[in-house]
Amino acid sequence: MNDWSARQYLKFEDERTRPPRDLLAQVPLDRAERVVDLGCGPGNSTELLIERFPDAEVIGIDSSPDMLRQARARLPRCTFVHGDLATWMPKSRTDLLFGNAVFQWVPDHAAVLQRLLRALPAGGVLAVQMPDNTGEPALALMREVAEKGPYAGHPELYNAARDDLPTPGDYYDLLRPLCSHLDIWHTVYNHVMTGPAGIVEWFKGSALRPFLDALESEQRTAFLADYTARIARAYRARHDGKVLLRFPRLFIVAAR
Ligand SMILES: C[S@@+](CC[C@H](N)C(=O)[O-])C[C@H]1O[C@@H](n2cnc3c(N)ncnc32)[C@H](O)[C@@H]1O
Repeated sequence: MNDWSARQYLKFEDERTRPPRDLLAQVPLDRAERVVDLGCGPGNSTELLIERFPDAEVIGIDSSPDMLRQARARLPRCTFVHGDLATWMPKSRTDLLFGNAVFQWVPDHAAVLQRLLRALPAGGVLAVQMPDNTGEPALALMREVAEKGPYAGHPELYNAARDDLPTPGDYYDLLRPLCSHLDIWHTVYNHVMTGPAGIVEWFKGSALRPFLDALESEQRTAFLADYTARIARAYRARHDGKVLLRFPRLFIVAAR
């Protein structure tokens, strides 16, 4: 997959930064010495961690050079490291591993969460948020366009769709034996978008990326036009012309 675009991702910075605020509000730590922002992106979630733990060493880790560039420019005093969460391990005495909107991109992420939790000291916290929206029209329509358009059969499109998340019960069974405290919940946001094109812009910064990366420029334009038309039919304009992007997200806070 091509690199992420920090600029595209940050077009909806306020909306995208609300889930990490809500996640951090449930982290049961009064103080912390070492905190790691896993999949720190452009540094928006890292900034929240610095505000909450001003005396801690806060480190951001990400696999995208473009995101790391943006994060370093935003928070020059913070340490940002290039790394892949599939294999990365925390240093000993890390108090908080915070992963907002990243683990849905990590293959076999449930096993990675178990591994990271095991690496924490007693009382250390793993806090995670992932979009749980594969059943929403915005995601279903990506799959529909990929299956029905002229690009149907394109091999890379088969792997472009994200898998459904495991259920809360599955996460409970996997993580509870490793925890002293486990909190799992869903929040459904309803983001106000200026119109259907706003929804397309939103997902160009995230879930659409693997679909668009798989296609040549002309096909990409056709894919986006088809997707945009379907989004306009699926998301009804409200009385003021705006549309609501319904967005369920899953939250997990686990203390060792
Ligand atoms: C949706 S952004 C989340 C950014 C930020 N944490 C936030 O709260 O808005 C996901 C980030 O995860 C990073 N990422 C995806 N897979 C990764 C992996 N295997 N290892 C490290 N970072 C990864 C991407 O580069 C991207 O910056």
